[in-house]
Amino acid sequence: MELRDALRTTPATRTFTDAPVDDATIAGILDDARFAPSGGNRQAWRVVVLKDPTIRRAVRDLYLAGWYEYLGQVQAGMTPFGVYNDQEQETIARSQSEQIAKDAAAGPGGFAEHLDEVPALLLVLADISALATVDRDLDRYSFAGGASLYPFVWNILLAARDRGLGGVITTMNVRNEPALLELLGAPERTGIVALVALGEPSQKITKLKRSQIHEFTTIDSFDGPTLSL
Ligand SMILES: Cc1cc2nc3c(=O)[nH]c(=O)nc-3n(C[C@H](O)[C@H](O)[C@H](O)COP(=O)(O)O)c2cc1C
Repeated sequence: MELRDALRTTPATRTFTDAPVDDATIAGILDDARFAPSGGNRQAWRVVVLKDPTIRRAVRDLYLAGWYEYLGQVQAGMTPFGVYNDQEQETIARSQSEQIAKDAAAGPGGFAEHLDEVPALLLVLADISALATVDRDLDRYSFAGGASLYPFVWNILLAARDRGLGGVITTMNVRNEPALLELLGAPERTGIVALVALGEPSQKITKLKRSQIHEFTTIDSFDGPTLSL
């Protein structure tokens, strides 16, 4: 498909048909995704393809723990796990997670509750020691390290799209990173980048909701004239 179409229309896909995604397809996707850029071309990513049903269920359960905390904060109108959140307010919001979990268990469940059944699950890890974190010494939250990892993760989704597959980047497992890393026998200085779910989409793609460029682009200064089409 046309690159511009792919850029403008690749959604987060969370519902899939039962069609399996075979190893050759996953290998092909990763073979395209590996051309992603990274700081100093360090390519600090590692991928673990999760197939074992026991491991998949454990990953789902760890995901759910973070997911229900996330929903508690959304319900409270907060930025979930926001860097500048009021800690007291966040603790109260997160304490709703038990009730949210109970309500979810009583229903059919959604993507999160059925995460273990997704056709393909790729866990992307990082060798933290190989990351150029240029913002490491600033007195603010660091994100430059992730910038060397998420282009690769996004390339996975684009490469999947090119094969008629859809998927979603998820990070909820980061909430319980130590438990998951232990489960997988990961060495020290490894971090979880994302769990990517992939499969054949079961729903039609709808128009993506995104801000217009004039809403986030100015010229010469932060409050300078806006750039628009
Ligand atoms: C870094 C990152 C983390 C995300 N984490 C999750 C997640 O844990 N669970 C989930 O269901 N979606 C997750 N998403 C998907 C976003 O919710 C999705 O990209 C966004 O809502 C836009 O969706 P759309 O492209 O369908 O409009 C994540 C996306 C990114 C880029």
